[in-house]
Amino acid sequence: MDKLQSPESLLAEGIELICETPVADEYRSLRVAASLAPRSAEGAAIGLPNTLFGVTLRKEGKLIGMGRIVGDGGLAFQIVDIAIQPAYQGRGLGRIIVAELVEYLRKTAPAGAHISLFADGPAKHLYAQFGFEETTPASVGMSLPNRASS
Ligand SMILES: CC(C)(COP(=O)(O)OP(=O)(O)OC[C@H]1O[C@@H](n2cnc3c(N)ncnc32)[C@H](O)[C@@H]1OP(=O)(O)O)[C@@H](O)C(=O)NCCC(=O)NCCS
Repeated sequence: MDKLQSPESLLAEGIELICETPVADEYRSLRVAASLAPRSAEGAAIGLPNTLFGVTLRKEGKLIGMGRIVGDGGLAFQIVDIAIQPAYQGRGLGRIIVAELVEYLRKTAPAGAHISLFADGPAKHLYAQFGFEETTPASVGMSLPNRASS
């Protein structure tokens, strides 16, 4: 199948690009489908409404891709939850989502604001296309283990 290159070509395939945050159930399902770590219903219910800017891709209403930006809106911004349904991966959809998020950042983030993300595996090649740079060794990303209870 041909690579999709623009929002216009999405429309031709019946895929809608929408500036919105998905609801909790579809968000949680998409993360699991894309082999990302599961997120709790509680966390999604609290966290998703606090999204600064979100983008979805839908086909016939079904969520097939997403990405969002969280942060304080002035000093710190983080790109999170970039995911495409496996059947739609490798066709340029991830690039379209990241392009929308970066455009939002270029328009709204004040000069000097810190813009960051954690790149899983080969996704770093996608972010590099938009100018993201690895921070090591000057700074190392760290996270506090906080596993869901069973
Ligand atoms: C990562 C992900 C969002 C990329 O979306 P996608 O629609 O498959 O990617 P695209 O087709 O838009 O590819 C854009 C660029 O990403 C990079 N890329 C994406 N997947 C890649 C892979 N498996 N290996 C190497 N590069 C890859 C390439 O640089 C590619 O550009 P190119 O086609 O010019 O080489 C998607 O594959 C996905 O949901 N993966 C599982 C969840 C995940 O890892 N999310 C990221 C968390 S940080």
